[in-house]
Amino acid sequence: MQDIRRTLVAKLINDPAEFIGKTVDVKGWVRSRRGNKYVQFVALNDGSSVKSLQIVFDLAKFSEEQLRPVTTGASIHVQGLLVESQGKGQNVEIQAEELQVYGTADPETYPLQKKGHSLEFLREKAHLRPRTNYFSAVLRIRHALAYAIHKFFNDKGFYYFHTPLITASDAEGAGAQFQVTTLPLNEVPVDKEGNVDYSKDFFGKMASLTVSGQLEGELGATALGCIYTFGPTFRAENSNTPRHLSEFWMIEPEMAFYEIEDNMDLAEEFIKYCISYALEHCKDDIEFLAEHFDKELPERLKFVVENDFVRLPYTEGIRILEESGKKFEFPVYWGVDLASEHERYLVEEHFKKPVILTDYPKEIKAFYMKLNDDGKTVRAMDVLFPKIGEIIGGSQREENLDKLQGRINEIGIEGMDWYLDTRRFGTVPHSGFGLGFERLVLFVTGMQNIRDVIPFPRYPKNCEY
Ligand code: 4AD
Ligand code: MG
Repeated sequence: MQDIRRTLVAKLINDPAEFIGKTVDVKGWVRSRRGNKYVQFVALNDGSSVKSLQIVFDLAKFSEEQLRPVTTGASIHVQGLLVESQGKGQNVEIQAEELQVYGTADPETYPLQKKGHSLEFLREKAHLRPRTNYFSAVLRIRHALAYAIHKFFNDKGFYYFHTPLITASDAEGAGAQFQVTTLPLNEVPVDKEGNVDYSKDFFGKMASLTVSGQLEGELGATALGCIYTFGPTFRAENSNTPRHLSEFWMIEPEMAFYEIEDNMDLAEEFIKYCISYALEHCKDDIEFLAEHFDKELPERLKFVVENDFVRLPYTEGIRILEESGKKFEFPVYWGVDLASEHERYLVEEHFKKPVILTDYPKEIKAFYMKLNDDGKTVRAMDVLFPKIGEIIGGSQREENLDKLQGRINEIGIEGMDWYLDTRRFGTVPHSGFGLGFERLVLFVTGMQNIRDVIPFPRYPKNCEY
C-alpha cells in the first residue's frame, strides 16, 4: 500500500460529500473492535474529532490472522472506500481495502480498555488520557480557546508581549514563589551575617518563577499602548482545591489610557468572545461533554454570552451577604477577603449571573491598585463566575508616583525602581486584568476539577512527567 497523507476523520464525518465513493487513507488508534465471522467493525479515532470513524473489514478479504493485532489502542493505517453507512450510529464508514499496523497494544496491559473509566483513574494515567474521548474533547476546546484569545487581541490591535518566566521581582507581594537556584542545597554559601549569599547564585541575586507578568506588562503598555501576555505562571501556595494549580496559564492584557470602566467593558467582551468562539467551533466536543458530564453546559454557556454581567461595589456585595441570612463557613464582614462560598452565593443564588465586584478594601488587594477618593478602597475588579468563583482579577493601576511610592514604602517592597519609572516618565492612567486560562477552560468544558483541563497538572506533592 502506498503510504500517502491521511484525511482527517473529522473531515470525513462532518463534511463527507467530496469523499463519498472515493478511496481515502485514514490513520489513527483503534478504540474498539466487534463483529462476527463475516465482518468486523473497527472504531478508529485520530484525535481530530470526538467521533470515531467506522471501518468495515470484510472477512472474505482479510484473514483472522491479519486482524489479530487490530485491538484497542493499536495504531493503524487503513485505505478504503468511503461510503454512506447502512448501520445506525454513523453517517459514513470505510470499506477497508488495505491495512497496515504501525504498533500493537497488548490487551493484557493497555490501561484504557473499557469505556467510561473514572476521571480519578484517568488522572493516575495522565500520560495516556489524551487518548480518551473526554480528555481529547477538553484538549481541543483548550486549543480553540487559546486561538480565540490571540485572535481577539490581535483583531483589537493589542500586541502579544513576552514577560519573563524567571524573575527577580515578586509581582503580587504574595511571597508564594518557587525559587530558582543552582546553589548546592547541601552546602549553601552564606555571607558574614550568616544569610544565604546569593551573589554566588546563577543570576548573582535571588530569582524565582513568576507569579504574574503584570508589572513587566505595564512596561509594555506604557510604550506600545495595549499589550497582552499569555504564558505560564507559578504559585507555591499549598492550595489543594479543584480550582488551584501550582502551574497555570494566565492571560494579562494591560492598556494605557483605560479607566476601570473601560477595563470592565473589555473583560466582559473578551470572555463572551471566547465562550462564543467555543460554542461555534467546538460543537461536537461541547455536546459530548454535556451528554456525559453536565447536561446544562450549553445553556449555561449561552446564558453567559447573552446576558450583561452585574457590576457591584464590594461594599454592596458585603451588605447582600450579611442580609442573606445564610450560614457561611467563613464569617462575612467589611474588610474580609471573600471566600469562594461568598462569591458563589452572589453569583449563583443572589444574582444568578456573572458579577464584577469592584472597589475592594485596599488592605486585601495588591499595592499597585489605584486608590479611590475615599482613601479606603481601590479600583479593583474581580469577575466572578458560576461554578468557578473568581475567573478574572484586575484593576485600574495607581499612576500617581507619590501615592504609589507611599504604598510601596508602607508595605516595604524593595527593588521597584524600574517599575516606578513608568510613573516617573510620562505616566498615564492605565488598567489591566488577569484571566486564569484553566478556569476559563473549566467553565467552558463544564469539568469539575481544574486538574482535568490541563495535560500535565502540577499541584502540591504531584509533579509527574
Ligand atoms: O487575581 P490574580 O492573582 O491577579 C493577578 O495575578 C494580577 N497580576 C492580574 C492582573 O491584573 N494583570 O490572578 C488572576 C487570575 C485569577 O482570577 C484566577 O482566574 C487565576 O488567575 N488564578 C489561578 N488559576 C489557577 N490556579 C491558581 N493557583 C490561580 N491563582 C490565580
Ligand atoms: Mg485575585
